[in-house]
Amino acid sequence: MNTAELLQSDAYESTDRLSKRNFDRLAHIIQDYSGIRMPASKTTMLEGRLRRRVRATGHASLEEYCRFLFDHDGIEAEFLHLIDVVTTNKTDFFREPAHFAYMRETILPQIAARGSRGIRAWSSACSIGAEPYTLAMLLDEFADQTGIDYRILATDLSTDVLATALKGIYASDMVDPVPRPLADKYVMRPQDPRDRRVRMSPRLRARIGFARFNLMSESYRIGDPMDLIFCRNVLIYFDKATQGKVLRKLADCLAPGGHLFVGHSETVSGFNLPLKQVAGTILMKE
Ligand SMILES: C[S@@+](CC[C@H](N)C(=O)[O-])C[C@H]1O[C@@H](n2cnc3c(N)ncnc32)[C@H](O)[C@@H]1O
Repeated sequence: MNTAELLQSDAYESTDRLSKRNFDRLAHIIQDYSGIRMPASKTTMLEGRLRRRVRATGHASLEEYCRFLFDHDGIEAEFLHLIDVVTTNKTDFFREPAHFAYMRETILPQIAARGSRGIRAWSSACSIGAEPYTLAMLLDEFADQTGIDYRILATDLSTDVLATALKGIYASDMVDPVPRPLADKYVMRPQDPRDRRVRMSPRLRARIGFARFNLMSESYRIGDPMDLIFCRNVLIYFDKATQGKVLRKLADCLAPGGHLFVGHSETVSGFNLPLKQVAGTILMKE
């Protein structure tokens, strides 16, 4: 890491600190709105990430930035940026590949056997889009084989990640996990060999609707029931009570026989959901 990178990183220990009062105010606002837990142990992480906003807004310190937020009504203007910096957006194409193998080998054949005419899928914390594009590649292949059409809804709380997802442009090494035949079909390489970016094919992009959606919303108005819902690697940031509420609302959005996928490190036991566990972290609505 060079000096500039070190200064920008979350790990950089600066003397510029948040007072406990301001940390508590911010933590309360963030958790209340996004569900993301902000215990005192996250102070250094929050300070590191907020320093980006301190610099971007031209303030001299975290405390000055907080005065702008709380004493000069800056909170409204800063709110979405605040949410963008506190969310953790790590993702990959074909992340947790066992989910996609189960979908392809078990769920899609069941859907075909039922004589379904269309599939509705929701990537509910989609980050920069690797998850919905992965889904789209598999559902598009399936559509080619069976004629069963599909639509994907891809949502996230962060506007930053949604902007990237919508463009569908990635550093070329990000698509390394995509199996070769799918990459050949759905990943567009630039003409210029010096350009290290790739683009998702317009055919996939046309099947995905991107929108901002907060899983903390009181009611989930997302249209017709879903056959597949991916809610992976986001529940871990919520407390138990919030996880239960989110899972119940997601279950309500599933069609009978529909499947919910949560992250491999997320547990869904003890919530008394109308869902049956069919494999590790895959649940089915009965
Ligand atoms: C670690 S990423 C997971 C991305 C993808 N699901 C995966 O497993 O690769 C977590 C995502 O959840 C989003 N997120 C956090 N809180 C959320 C909320 N309340 N509603 C919707 N999305 C949220 C973040 O913005 C982030 O993009």
